[in-house]
Amino acid sequence: MKSRSDNMSGGKWSRRDFLRSSASAGLGIALTGRTLSGAAMLPGQEEDQNLPDLNVAVIGAGQQGRILIESCLRIPGIRMKAVCDIWAYSQRYASRYLKKYGHEVNVYEDYRELLSKEKDLDAAIVATPDWMHATQTNACLEAGLHVYCEKEMSNSLSKARSMVQTARKTGKLLQIGHQRRSNPRYLHAIDRLVLDKKILGRVSQIYAQWNRAKMDMYGWPKQYTMDQNKLAKYGYASMTHFRNWRWFKKFAGGPIVDLGSHQIDIFSWVLGITPSTVVALGGKDYYKNREWYDNVMVIYEFNTPEGKARAMYQVQTTTKNGGFYETFMGDMGALQISEVPQRGDWAMREAHAPEWDSLVKEGLLKSEKPPLQKLDTQNIFLDVRVTAEAGRWPLPIDLAKPAHQPHLENFFNAIVHGIPLNCPAEVGYETAVAVLRVNDAVEARRLLSFRPEQFEV
Ligand SMILES: NC(=O)c1ccc[n+]([C@@H]2O[C@H](COP(=O)([O-])OP(=O)(O)OC[C@H]3O[C@@H](n4cnc5c(N)ncnc54)[C@H](O)[C@@H]3O)[C@@H](O)[C@H]2O)c1
Repeated sequence: MKSRSDNMSGGKWSRRDFLRSSASAGLGIALTGRTLSGAAMLPGQEEDQNLPDLNVAVIGAGQQGRILIESCLRIPGIRMKAVCDIWAYSQRYASRYLKKYGHEVNVYEDYRELLSKEKDLDAAIVATPDWMHATQTNACLEAGLHVYCEKEMSNSLSKARSMVQTARKTGKLLQIGHQRRSNPRYLHAIDRLVLDKKILGRVSQIYAQWNRAKMDMYGWPKQYTMDQNKLAKYGYASMTHFRNWRWFKKFAGGPIVDLGSHQIDIFSWVLGITPSTVVALGGKDYYKNREWYDNVMVIYEFNTPEGKARAMYQVQTTTKNGGFYETFMGDMGALQISEVPQRGDWAMREAHAPEWDSLVKEGLLKSEKPPLQKLDTQNIFLDVRVTAEAGRWPLPIDLAKPAHQPHLENFFNAIVHGIPLNCPAEVGYETAVAVLRVNDAVEARRLLSFRPEQFEV
């Protein structure tokens, strides 16, 4: 178990320190930049800002790469210069999309060729399958670029460690794509309400889940089938492996890593500490021809300064019941939050806790919603103080942008203005340690401990 603040990139200045001081200095945290001449704007893009242009390449233009490209197009000052992808389908889709919005890009198959030819890049976005992250991120950092690398940092801890080391050695920025860390709703709920105002009191229980409906393996347009030589050159045994890399051990960590890491990352943000032990059960119980566990249930223990806290997490891939959300429970209240506000966007106050009226007056919470269901206390013998459903105070912040945009803005702002990254390599590494250990615990079928030094590089 290790306190999070011990291991922050740069050591001395945490993001929360920065936000406090920058707020008092009147420096906004939204990206400031200037609109590029010739580039069309998407809805939500802001004008009249003055960020110097940043030249950016994307390595891996699949589903997530394209989502990140779309967010970049909304950020003034970002000039997309190059796209690298081994698959013609992704190359074509991304380059055409960018052209439509005024960004003519050079297209590459091999990231090494991109790095040797593109000499005026400032940053790279790495959104390839997890197993390639370390090789490509390290090469970009060594080439003098700042890197935004998607989660999971890597499917191998030694490779993830090498990324932290390369970022430190080169002095370049490395942001890991746990985008909730830049989401204004999460920042408000966790930094402001839970950590500063302590509205939940002592947090000792966490529950989170990502339940996803049954899905078939991905296919591909047959005219874009890669031949066996090319697949082998890039490490894939077949098109099925290439398209469904998430399910195979060589390339990824399975659903607990793919989905769970976003939420498990937040446990340590709230508790301010990394876990001390983990126990988990899971299995390959439903799908055939996939290597990773299709369902996992986990319990982490954290030795917080206030005592033990436990976090229960489950990932399911055969039911979408309940969707995905995180619930933090303390002796004064609970917070349920999700990247999708419909699944969680409120705090609940315990009856004995101090009133939250002042928080509502300050605009930190919206007014209490009345209990969902009123009990008929005339006709039933029940103690309503115990059984009536508690009121819910909705969070007052909406995210009026795509979910990944604030995290990219934080990255670009860090490059230009030197503000701290919200998810530097060290934090991404701590999360990778906590999450990848779940698979070890499933395999071992027993409680596993973490040593504090395991979270350090
Ligand atoms: N932050 C999030 O919410 C989020 C969501 C989804 C995916 N992701 C992450 O984004 C990454 C990509 O996921 P995806 O869903 O887009 O996968 P995908 O399979 O749709 O896309 C991967 C792309 O990388 C390309 N590629 C594979 N090997 C390559 C190589 N050696 N060099 C260059 N290109 C290569 C593929 O051709 C494909 O276009 C993963 O790390 C994933 O975990 C993050």
